[in-house]
Amino acid sequence: MKFRTRIAKRARRPAALVNGRRPPRPAASGRRRPPGPAAKAWVARDRKVLSPSLTRSYPLVVARASGATITDVDGYRYLDFTSGIAVTSTGHCHPDVVDAIIRQAKLLIHMSGTDFYYPSEIRLAEQLVALTPGRHAKQCFLANSGTEATEAAMKLARYATDRPYFISFLGGFHGRTYGAMSLSASKPVHKEGFGPLVPGVFHVPYADCYRCSYGLKPDSCNFHCVRVIEEELFARTVPPEEVAAIVVEPIQGEGGYVVPPDGYLAALKALAGKYGILLMVDEIQTGMGRTGRMWGCDHDGVVPDLMMTAKGIASGLPLGAMIADARLMRWPAGAHANTFGGNPIACEAALVTLRLLTDGLIENAAAVGRYLLDRCRELQARHRLVGDVRGRGLMIGLDLVCDRDRKTPAVEERNQVIQRCFERGLLVLGCGRSVLRLAPPLIITRRQVDDAVAVLDEALNTVERRAQAG
Ligand SMILES: Cc1ncc(COP(=O)(O)O)c(C=O)c1O
Repeated sequence: MKFRTRIAKRARRPAALVNGRRPPRPAASGRRRPPGPAAKAWVARDRKVLSPSLTRSYPLVVARASGATITDVDGYRYLDFTSGIAVTSTGHCHPDVVDAIIRQAKLLIHMSGTDFYYPSEIRLAEQLVALTPGRHAKQCFLANSGTEATEAAMKLARYATDRPYFISFLGGFHGRTYGAMSLSASKPVHKEGFGPLVPGVFHVPYADCYRCSYGLKPDSCNFHCVRVIEEELFARTVPPEEVAAIVVEPIQGEGGYVVPPDGYLAALKALAGKYGILLMVDEIQTGMGRTGRMWGCDHDGVVPDLMMTAKGIASGLPLGAMIADARLMRWPAGAHANTFGGNPIACEAALVTLRLLTDGLIENAAAVGRYLLDRCRELQARHRLVGDVRGRGLMIGLDLVCDRDRKTPAVEERNQVIQRCFERGLLVLGCGRSVLRLAPPLIITRRQVDDAVAVLDEALNTVERRAQAG
């Protein structure tokens, strides 16, 4: 009885939003909007004890979540187009994932794969080597996060090739630990005050065809940005025989959801192959079906020498993986290891996640992703703020610009749209300088896409009106 009363009470709270059935209505003035009092109180407590380096865009304090819906501590409900930064691939608290977690927690929580064996870690590694591109023998190193997967790949690339240098890309992001941070080049704040970084990393422009560093067009440039690596970098600065790996994201994530043209990864792979350089592909955000295929590099039919993945792999449990050609894995016992990597509960969650992805969620990501892309292009046609819409599967970015000719990033406007969406019950994040990133869970439906687009439409209208008035 008590339980029912609480539910009813919660249902009477002001719904910030958006569930599948009715289109979101603009809140009348004076009507309550998030954050509510409980969220404000939690944020005040958080400020006292958590690191100010965290990057919260709005005061969402989550109480619980299910599928693509989040409920905050005041009872407001939101549609989640962030997936907790592209992590909850199967939706929040998918019942099969929850069951697997509970089952495993009753059997074994930890024993450390570094010093001991247990079946879940071995079964997951078997699945990963089978699912990654290429039929050759591969081996895995399991970690707890994307950045650790990157560190492992960086160390293995140097060890296996006996070469010191890396080539990575402007706009790239590979993590926050020293090696990964040194490979990254998306925002100065990531590095400011932390030098010296790991030496031997050369950054070159990515295939960002919306804002091409060379002012060229993709249909006529003949991959100028790849040729420059050979014709300029190798010819003047770095002997290619000393480069261990080219490190690349199939779509730049943190850097602004930048989608390179078809054939770009294949061109990098050909260049790398010519000089015995490894291709190290960062699938931490693009992997696990997010782009409508299992891996981002599948769109180009490229087989990486080393691959990193994390984020969506275990539906929210911390897990990262580095998968490499077995011929590279020649490092001896003790050369690289950790305490928690390949935790049995995380591995079981990953095994269920992989099953759900291959049983239909990747197909859903491709189909609903196409629909979302089309709906975003309609927004672009209606809103002058939207300069570019790009993406694959459910990894879609709207690049907001002050004027379409100069493509001046509309940074403040982008932040206002994110804030307005939050107030109206849609959770989105930014990336790059002025990009709205849409990364819903792979279970998302067309109806939820319609709800989200309606909120985005209203938010863009509001911000455009404000900009005109101001
Ligand atoms: C492409 C890419 N690589 C690496 C990372 C780092 O992953 P983690 O935050 O799990 O360390 C991220 C995280 O955003 C990412 O998007």
